Amino acid sequence: MSPPALEHHSDDHISVRGEPFRVYIDRDRLARRVEALGEQISQDYEGLRPILIGVLNGAYIFLADLMRAIRIDCEVDFMKLSSYGAEQISSGTVRSLKEIDADIEGRHVIIVEDIVDTGLSMQYILDALSHEQPASMQVATMLHKAAATKVDLELRYVGFEIDNLFVVGYGLDYGQVGRNLKDIFILDRE
Ligand code: IMP
Repeated sequence: MSPPALEHHSDDHISVRGEPFRVYIDRDRLARRVEALGEQISQDYEGLRPILIGVLNGAYIFLADLMRAIRIDCEVDFMKLSSYGAEQISSGTVRSLKEIDADIEGRHVIIVEDIVDTGLSMQYILDALSHEQPASMQVATMLHKAAATKVDLELRYVGFEIDNLFVVGYGLDYGQVGRNLKDIFILDRE
């Protein structure tokens, strides 16, 4: 029989699909940073009723926490892009699997992502949504792998700049495994 897809060896060491991962950003640090981002957005968008557009599937946990950390009036909608499948390396090809329902013309849009890696997904989203003529458009991403980003993007709200290694947890998956982990874990090849 094959081993379980998710194995806990200790509080901070796990295996996902047979690969070792260790805690990288724990739940308390995540929570504090999300609160700070929510506060910053509340100040920047006072009176503007922004619409948060979550990118499925990975962003839903970050989005749920971020939205509750925002104290001003705001709305939510979702879009979905094709994913890498079970690969750790970005394929670089992006397709839309679900478009937003909201009419964003003249609205203040905040795109909410789990991670910006190569940046190709975000570039695709910014390009697609700009055709709908929002009043403004900014990005909130929980994580940014700056060393992997190939395109020039303005990322207004960044949770953490991280090393260029594969991460799972807090919504991020490895072949659909690990999204439910409360901490963010990083591949541990030591
Ligand atoms: P990009 O287009 O290369 O920037 O990749 C964006 C998407 O790839 C993210 O929304 C994630 O779904 C996925 N991704 C990139 N890096 C990781 C990672 O380290 N762990 C899990 N998913 C990742």
